[in-house]
Amino acid sequence: LNWTREEKYTKLSDVSKEDYDHLVEKVKNSKWRQTYHIQPKTGLLNDPNGLIYHDGKYHIFHQWFPLGAVHGIKYWYHYTSEDLLRFDDLGIALGPDTPYDSHGVYSGSAFDYDGKLHLMYTGNVRDSNWTRTSNQLIAVQQEDGSFEKSDAPIIIGSPAGYTEHFRDPKVWKENDTYYAIFGIQRDNETGTAIIYESKNIKDWNLKGELKTNLNQFGYMWECPDLFKLNEKDVFVFSTQGIAEQESKFQNIYQSGYIIGQLDLDELTMNHDDFKELDQGFDFYAPQTFLDKNGNRLLIGWMGLPETEYATDNEGWAHCLTIPRELTIEDGKLKQRPLKALEQLRTNKETAEGYANKHSVKLHPYEGKQFELIIDILENDASEIYFDVRVSKKCATHIIYNTETKQLTLDRYESGIISELNQKQTRETILEEELKQLRIFSDTSSLEIFVNDGECVFSSRIFPDENAVNFKTSTESGQVYLKFTKYSIT
Ligand code: FRU
Repeated sequence: LNWTREEKYTKLSDVSKEDYDHLVEKVKNSKWRQTYHIQPKTGLLNDPNGLIYHDGKYHIFHQWFPLGAVHGIKYWYHYTSEDLLRFDDLGIALGPDTPYDSHGVYSGSAFDYDGKLHLMYTGNVRDSNWTRTSNQLIAVQQEDGSFEKSDAPIIIGSPAGYTEHFRDPKVWKENDTYYAIFGIQRDNETGTAIIYESKNIKDWNLKGELKTNLNQFGYMWECPDLFKLNEKDVFVFSTQGIAEQESKFQNIYQSGYIIGQLDLDELTMNHDDFKELDQGFDFYAPQTFLDKNGNRLLIGWMGLPETEYATDNEGWAHCLTIPRELTIEDGKLKQRPLKALEQLRTNKETAEGYANKHSVKLHPYEGKQFELIIDILENDASEIYFDVRVSKKCATHIIYNTETKQLTLDRYESGIISELNQKQTRETILEEELKQLRIFSDTSSLEIFVNDGECVFSSRIFPDENAVNFKTSTESGQVYLKFTKYSIT
């Protein structure tokens, strides 16, 4: 979409109610509206922000440009929830309305201080030459639920040695000290993360750079997140500028993690290799938080920057992923869908049987919004094909090669493809043979969890209205499958 700078930096308050209502109507009529994912009422959603369980409620915010499917001037949009299943829409929490965040309220996180919900975020400012300044600000929730920004930023501009790409604070508390980790670009145009500390959340001191082995790993790191999980330290971040390597790093930008041991005094982290968090087409800028029982959950943006989507000309784009629970088991990160999502299940249907060369259509597996669990109980097929969201015209293929253990998601025929010049498959080699697929389908997305937490493929798809069927077949040989399907309502 070709928007002028002026159009992109138009605030919601500058358009008439009539014009905005018109856009709301247009979006409502989109056939790709999701049913159980957080999506924008209008305009563009990107990063999840400020995820927290606080005072008996979950808070989910996200980056938002209200007026169209472009990265214009950003707001924070706010939802609360008791169970992460049903959400109360609270509208805008933070807008670009001070000299310190005049060109966008960028990403950040939430924390508790003095019993009150606090947000720390990046204020994006451009001067008349369009030169950027990144400020870091705090806002506090008031009695009436609204957020009041502090008078002045806690940090103005970037520290010496770094460019103005400095953003996305993630705050945590440890031993009476508050820490905030930021993504930043060094003057030599490599990405890294820096950590500040504070005792009183007003005065923040730069403690230094997080020292990892990833010294030359992209030109910018965004949305860093550092946390403990099962006795390990995990560092999640989103990096830009990594070249693709065989089946790795296929999307324009990557979100991934390293696992190791952090020395918070020295800021050194000994760690394993960087691994991507998701194998699908559409995943970026995730953030984690603790649920009410202390489990570590992750929510990502099911989208990517600088990428076109079929809904763009309908005036909206993107959604958040379903929440995933993270654990480390045998040194490996596992990601499973939020347990509570089981409460959304209705209308259970099961079947089991052999699939072979001849494509079998599994009745009555029809639908757009469902959870489908496929257990592979016996397999002597050379290759297994699972076709989901099938109509006469489209199908999304999941392909498993038994010998190589390669699992492929192919969306070439899935419906409308906006980036047709790009490769339309994503693949990964599984560590274990394929035992289970657990597929969450919504109107225009698939989240495929593989082997009880081993990996996930998150992707948007834009199939036609009749794409409700499901088929299985093999290249040769046969496979014995058990299906459990629930509608999600
Ligand atoms: C990541 C990101 C963040 C930034 C925000 C702006 O997608 O670029 O680094 O804070 O989006 O919307």
